Amino acid sequence: MSEVIGSTSVIVFGCDHAGFLLQQHLMEKVKAHGFHVIDCGTDDELSVDYPDFAERVAERILHQKAEKGILICGTGMGMAIAANRHRGIRAACCYDANQATIARQHNDINVLCLGSRLSDEAVAFECVMAFLKTDFDGGRHQRRLDKIDKNAA
Ligand code: RB5
Repeated sequence: MSEVIGSTSVIVFGCDHAGFLLQQHLMEKVKAHGFHVIDCGTDDELSVDYPDFAERVAERILHQKAEKGILICGTGMGMAIAANRHRGIRAACCYDANQATIARQHNDINVLCLGSRLSDEAVAFECVMAFLKTDFDGGRHQRRLDKIDKNAA
């Protein structure tokens, strides 16, 4: 069940210093498309540790029922590794919209990880919109996700 304010889905953002500027850009764009945004930081370009922000976003999704999260670091990779340690989080790095679409359809990702040093603003936003608008296909893909959860139990 997703947290919804009015008819608006809640999207939680988190980044490290490398992702800060891209996060600011994407939060404004996502808000302009009617989503409610929660900003879990970081708040400037001073060096921080990405796992701290992955944890904030994961906790928010798992315990406060936000629908989806977006994590941004230099590559997206550290964020994905950190976020996937939280049971119930399915995070993937995506570098084009097709990847984000398939990651939603097949993997039901609830966290999109972006790399500010690998994707420009336009491509990153295309990934975000694909992530937000694409539904999970279910079926055989759900069976596979259930196996992942069973293995992590
Ligand atoms: C920070 O320099 C960088 O390591 C971080 O943003 C990220 O790319 C890690 O995966």
